[in-house]
Amino acid sequence: MASGMTVAVVGATGAAGQATLRILEERKFPVRELRVFASERSVGKTVPFRGEPVRVQKIEPGAFKGVQIAFCSAGSVQSKAYAPMLVQAGAVVIDKSSAFRMDPNVPLVVPEINAHAARNHQGILACPNCTTIVTVMPLKPLHDAGRLRRVIAVSYQSVSGAGVNGIAELREQTLAWARGETIKPRHFPYPIAFNLIPAIDRFGPDGYTAEEMKLVNETRKILELPGLLISPTTVRVPVFTCHSIAVTAETERKITPAQARELFERFSGLKVWDDPTQERYPMPVEVEGQDDCFVGRIREDLSSPTGLNFWVVGDQLRKGAATNAVQIAELLLG
Ligand code: A2P
Repeated sequence: MASGMTVAVVGATGAAGQATLRILEERKFPVRELRVFASERSVGKTVPFRGEPVRVQKIEPGAFKGVQIAFCSAGSVQSKAYAPMLVQAGAVVIDKSSAFRMDPNVPLVVPEINAHAARNHQGILACPNCTTIVTVMPLKPLHDAGRLRRVIAVSYQSVSGAGVNGIAELREQTLAWARGETIKPRHFPYPIAFNLIPAIDRFGPDGYTAEEMKLVNETRKILELPGLLISPTTVRVPVFTCHSIAVTAETERKITPAQARELFERFSGLKVWDDPTQERYPMPVEVEGQDDCFVGRIREDLSSPTGLNFWVVGDQLRKGAATNAVQIAELLLG
């Protein structure tokens, strides 16, 4: 182990894949050999790692031989195809897609919250949806202190959650708008520049989107609270990389804003930016590039005696994706 591991990144040319490479470097993950994979279109292109170009390889029989840890962020269809091949080759897979998250045999891990779950893996561990991660981080200390009863969450999700195409589309549409040109949507169903899209992913028969149901089901699994009442609304906003969530959390025992501030401050991975007298609250432009999630606007819910309102912001590509995935890998090393 001292000399490092053979690590694969599948989807290495994508937004989360590139972030994974940066986080592996930053956290000095013991990588002895790095293999990077993407679609056939990218075979032969290079991605930088530790100052060197690494060539994208073709996914073909034998390509995963010797891989010990694999990070997959190429989408759920690809994960369903490649994860079993990687496990067969002897690798442990940390999967960023939704492919295995609700599989009872697959741990769904946020290391600050349920590191214990990672011990029971059978070759695949899942990283939760980015909005779920940012939302569940402050919910955990509230639950431990006062037992959660009901959560209302409204998300303001950045375009990085839709990958490199989402990021490119916001940039292109903003430039088109500045030039006075008509904005033509390509990746999103409607213009995203100077707009809000109150539906992410497909609708279910009950009027909730798949993204909203991920937030419900994954939060319940991570917190081990199958009956937790959660009311979700997820919205795509013209922000590049951070997700923000307005949360109302109702607990059995009342938690005052002062107590909540203290609970959040003590919880690893959370920081409190909350001072109305100084106009201090977290915003995407300030949180971008950081691994912690930032909480502010902490106040009583005026409509419920045990309700608390707050606002939490996290970098979607870091804690919402790559940082959480690399933290899971670090648990495996430990
Ligand atoms: P490519 O760049 O060759 O399309 P994002 O989430 O930012 O859109 O990135 C998706 C990632 O998944 C990219 O690295 C993309 O590679 C990769 N990808 C897409 N389709 C496949 C596939 N069939 N096999 C492997 N990787 C894929």
